[in-house]
Amino acid sequence: MAPFQTLMIGGGMIAHDQILPSLYQLQRDGLIGEITVCAQTGRTTKALADNRTIHEGFPGHTFIPRPDFNTVDDLTRKHPALYRELLRDMPPRQLVIMALPDQLHFDSIMAALEANQHVIAVKPLVLSYAHALEVERVARERGLFVGVEYHKRFDDRALMARTQYREGRFGNFRLGQAALMEPWYYRESNFQNWCTCENSDLFTYIGCHYVDQIHFITGHLPTEVSVYGIVDTYPNGREGYLWTDGRVLWDNGACLNVVNAIGYPNHGAGGNFQGLRMFCQGEDDGCILFHDDQYRGLKYCYAASGDGPNATRYSEPSPDYFRLVDRGGETLTPVGYGFRSVEGLTKAAAQVETAGPDLAAKQAVLERIDSEGIIATPANSSFNELVIEAARLSITQNGRPVTIDYDETPHVTPRSW
Ligand SMILES: NC(=O)c1ccc[n+]([C@@H]2O[C@H](COP(=O)([O-])OP(=O)(O)OC[C@H]3O[C@@H](n4cnc5c(N)ncnc54)[C@H](O)[C@@H]3O)[C@@H](O)[C@H]2O)c1
Repeated sequence: MAPFQTLMIGGGMIAHDQILPSLYQLQRDGLIGEITVCAQTGRTTKALADNRTIHEGFPGHTFIPRPDFNTVDDLTRKHPALYRELLRDMPPRQLVIMALPDQLHFDSIMAALEANQHVIAVKPLVLSYAHALEVERVARERGLFVGVEYHKRFDDRALMARTQYREGRFGNFRLGQAALMEPWYYRESNFQNWCTCENSDLFTYIGCHYVDQIHFITGHLPTEVSVYGIVDTYPNGREGYLWTDGRVLWDNGACLNVVNAIGYPNHGAGGNFQGLRMFCQGEDDGCILFHDDQYRGLKYCYAASGDGPNATRYSEPSPDYFRLVDRGGETLTPVGYGFRSVEGLTKAAAQVETAGPDLAAKQAVLERIDSEGIIATPANSSFNELVIEAARLSITQNGRPVTIDYDETPHVTPRSW
């Protein structure tokens, strides 16, 4: 198979922090060919192209910028429909990485599928269950891969927990606490333009990782969601649910509490605050499964603090999500579950593409990926969309519980008493 011609749509934080350097490594490894990045403005493609760390790590690697900041007359002019033109011009059955704000996921994924492209989507896949079903249906009909980039699934601790929980070593999950607090300075970022009350909230944006983790580890499905959100104001005056407290019940009666915020102190030692505690019931004793996902055991105190809004002299960096390390030679190598996730999803798309020319063979590979359940796909992870639908209903009704029914047509219903 020739390396995938790749189009990344979106050039913001996740594109910079994780996806572009991962794609450059996959280019080195021969899985990915030419890379185009389509953002909304030339300013964004320029900032990505000018990034010093990425340049130093991947000398000689470049992407085709769209809009092209070299030729565009106004770097700030918006080109929201440009990615559609680029999709039309792409040869079929290549790879699209969709890294757009949450509310734009569905339209852009559908546009990519209609252009016969495999898709890797940043989480959450889409914001409603009906949309997840539609993505699943169209992809299956065309023998195309759609994977959701829940990168925590590629953290070895999650994979260990999944195997051992399913062997019965933790008994039955009963109560859980999860937290993921993003740093305060995110308020200054592009988030203030889209992660606002009408589009998303902190539970939907980032709490979904831990809802997904509970299913990934235990196999249980969520049955009721209640989310209380505190509205706070961004520097640009727009409002978002920037502090959320979610409660998710599961089909075995278990309960998970998830707190999320853009509220971790810029002066804090970690990049954010995150972790999961599961309290479980064995035959004759309790069992616990604790993941401290923020503090990964490193304590550094520098001679001076570095650059950046949350650079501190005393720091507890995580080596496990995404780092560029020097393994010799003149380049840097990405390590961590952020890279393994992009690699795993790209390899899955390649497996579908190399399954043979006939549709049935491609669909058989898609079904195997769905049933393995390691890679999140619309078919095996759309409970996440039901949770999001329920959460969005709940948060606008002051935390009213919303049930999820998995009958012939799974749906959500606000609870009444
Ligand atoms: N932990 C995670 O898994 C994780 C972390 C961060 C972000 N994300 C997800 O990634 C997505 C993007 O988040 P981000 O942090 O990069 O946000 P961001 O605001 O930094 O970037 C969004 C980018 O999309 C671009 N964009 C918007 N409309 C566009 C259009 N019509 N055409 C082309 N580009 C367009 C913007 O210019 C911007 O570059 C979100 O869905 C978010 O939930 C996931």
